[in-house]
Amino acid sequence: MKITSNTEWYHRAFNQRYLELYSHRDEKELAQLFFTLVHFKLFPTDGKVLDAACGAGRWLRYLIRNGVDAIGFDLSSELLKECSDLPVVQADMRSLPFEDQTFISVHSLFSSFGYFVDAEEDMRQIREFVRVLKKDGWILFDTIPDRFLYELPPDNTYQFSDGVIASIHRETKQNIIYKTVQLDNGEMWEERLRVYTPIELDQMFQKYGCCLLWRLGNYDGSSYNANYSPRMISCYVRTT
Ligand SMILES: C[S@@+](CC[C@H](N)C(=O)[O-])C[C@H]1O[C@@H](n2cnc3c(N)ncnc32)[C@H](O)[C@@H]1O
Repeated sequence: MKITSNTEWYHRAFNQRYLELYSHRDEKELAQLFFTLVHFKLFPTDGKVLDAACGAGRWLRYLIRNGVDAIGFDLSSELLKECSDLPVVQADMRSLPFEDQTFISVHSLFSSFGYFVDAEEDMRQIREFVRVLKKDGWILFDTIPDRFLYELPPDNTYQFSDGVIASIHRETKQNIIYKTVQLDNGEMWEERLRVYTPIELDQMFQKYGCCLLWRLGNYDGSSYNANYSPRMISCYVRTT
């Protein structure tokens, strides 16, 4: 695997401040997603589920609380500390510490894709997810719609609970969204997200023997619409 240094943005950006910044991602959307899976008869009762890049374990905790046999992994030791009571391991998504065909299902929630400088490494991530998935297993892949490349939210500020103020700026270059977070205490980090069209994503998964089962536009199960859906949630099945 190509060596990436610990200076890559994703080694630094996912910390306590990230958790506070995104604390509005609440249990309601998890419950909606859970019932959407039940609706599609994909409630995972038989076999092990992998919560990929589980962060602080919000979805993993939800799955386990509802009787699912699940494990999570993430790169961030700071976020993993928040869920040390759950079955989690520290790992990079391009090189997973699991045997081939271990899981009945792999869930990748809330834009945990498109992080790497080299797009080949995004492919490597998909290849790893498919490798650890059983044949006929399915991958839940939650990304942002590609129109967000052109519909960036305006710059904004956010005040953390300790009074520190963040100024947040986003810009697009080609198919990558760069988000800069500048704190008034001098700290600063950048996040970058390569955004894929639905067709590009389908082709990437097809390359590794997966085909699209369905695509939703939000956790509540609404259909995907390229013009207004807030999310792009794709479900792929491993067919080979
Ligand atoms: C946007 S967060 C989503 C977290 C979680 N899935 C959720 O829904 O709350 C992205 C996650 O990807 C993790 N991550 C970033 N780069 C990673 C890598 N190379 N390998 C594994 N995890 C990584 C981050 O630490 C972070 O927890």
